[in-house]
Amino acid sequence: MLHKSESNSLDRLRIVLASSEAVPWSKTGGLADVSTALAKSLAAVGHDVTLVVPYHRQTEFVRDHKEEIHNSGVQLRIPVGTKTVLGTVFWTHVPSSNLRVLLIDQPEYFDRAGLYQSPSGDYSDNCERFVFFSRAVVSTIEHLVLRPHIVHANDWQTGLAPALIELEKRGAPGFEDTRSIFTIHNLAFQGWFPADAMKLTGLDWKHFNWQQMECHNQLNLLKTGIAFADFLTTVSPTYAKEIQTPEFGCGLHELLEHRRDDLVGILNGVDTDTWCPESDPFLPSNFNADNFAANKPICKSHLQDRLGLPDRPDAPLFGMVSRMTDQKGLDLITEVAQKLVEQNLQIAFLGTGNERYEWMLRELARKHPDKVSTTIGFDERLAHQIEAGSDFYLMPSRYEPCGLNQMYSLAYGTVPLVRAVGGLADSVVDTNVDSIANGTATGIVFRKYDGGTFFDAVSRCLKLYQDPTNHHKVIRAGMRYDSTWSRSANEYLATYENTLKRRPRTSLATRVTESKDHVAP
Ligand code: ADP
Ligand code: GLC
Repeated sequence: MLHKSESNSLDRLRIVLASSEAVPWSKTGGLADVSTALAKSLAAVGHDVTLVVPYHRQTEFVRDHKEEIHNSGVQLRIPVGTKTVLGTVFWTHVPSSNLRVLLIDQPEYFDRAGLYQSPSGDYSDNCERFVFFSRAVVSTIEHLVLRPHIVHANDWQTGLAPALIELEKRGAPGFEDTRSIFTIHNLAFQGWFPADAMKLTGLDWKHFNWQQMECHNQLNLLKTGIAFADFLTTVSPTYAKEIQTPEFGCGLHELLEHRRDDLVGILNGVDTDTWCPESDPFLPSNFNADNFAANKPICKSHLQDRLGLPDRPDAPLFGMVSRMTDQKGLDLITEVAQKLVEQNLQIAFLGTGNERYEWMLRELARKHPDKVSTTIGFDERLAHQIEAGSDFYLMPSRYEPCGLNQMYSLAYGTVPLVRAVGGLADSVVDTNVDSIANGTATGIVFRKYDGGTFFDAVSRCLKLYQDPTNHHKVIRAGMRYDSTWSRSANEYLATYENTLKRRPRTSLATRVTESKDHVAP
């Protein structure tokens, strides 16, 4: 229960958001954008927000031109298995925001070229690294007497945190009013480790059971977060439903279905400080919904020039900025690649990922230099220029928890071609006679995951491009779509408040383990 004296302070919640990546300090994907944007939006409406992230090597690259990073003097001594691992808390903040950011320094774990993997695969000590980080978050809360109402953990890397709150800190000094929230950004990455890794967590083996931390005799840190958090969210309403089905549930659909009353889907937003065509410093020409027809072509021609594509206003330019993985529909693109280059179009790819896809897209560009450009790498500036300079954006995802690029595309007047899954289904309205007539059409949407259906959708884009009146109508509707973070942040606040009003849950864990004790292997 909330203390009576505290109930009024719901106006100013103390929120600790824990994430393994956050822009501008570290990023591999959308989680980084979302962590900072959500934390900033909550802080902007007056809540006391602390964002906690690892002090990755990447952070050093942004040091020069961002806010100073200071040593707080707080030293952590974190038990990880039989070791005690030392950590240091650094602090900084987001320029022009009252958001406090804490960076957990542990050079052996985080001073590495990649966040989670080297070119040869996942780091073998990932479990140890993120057990350390989750415990460091809880320890930092104690050291700095943050007394949070909400500890909001994200994805498997912080999946242990809700378990620590539930099993070690429930009602403890400094945690009297704390509830935990766990957000699933991508159910496919679960943090699986051999059973023996359970020893690293410091938790009792009795929790290594099929309803809490164990999955197919492996430790599963995403499942741990799902089992122990007071409330669960995921990043779109459609994905919240999808993950309760065998098709999208990645083996956890039964647990998620069981927790369906504690699960809500909240669509991510766009951080307009970073993604706004009117003020974007990476663009050769800025634009808005009124002047895009004059200024966006300048971005297109600059992009074509930069990428070595012929400056052809008559050919629609398709962009794609993405992790190159099965999730993002790269197999569909592979399947129809030959047919695509036979059309009057150009495509700009930017991404890294699966070598097979990188090679295929490089080859496509090598064979068709006047039609295709492929950039393998991570390039923030080029990502913005592709969003602004393209006419259409390709996002034929196999599944998509939310997806940010389709929303950046809408904001940048670049019509997204998406598959109707997850957040793509929730943010893009297909173009047809009715939606054109009533002004709601914002993109091209297809359903069936096959090459033919995807190619038909591309053909619909080509047709739309030949019809400037309707094309501009679709662009304008997309640019006016409200994807601001304040909408999403309000939904998170409502979720926090509802969770705080509930009694802390007696965890599923406590209820099930009595009958299903596990014997340590
Ligand atoms: P996911 O998190 O599944 O990768 P999202 O659409 O949620 O997909 O977010 C991806 C984020 O990462 C976007 O901000 C996108 O612009 C960015 N991004 C992905 N690949 C690259 C890249 N190669 N260079 C620059 N930005 C990239
Ligand atoms: C994940 C998902 C993506 C989502 C992002 C941020 O990486 O794949 O769809 O937008 O998290 O929530």
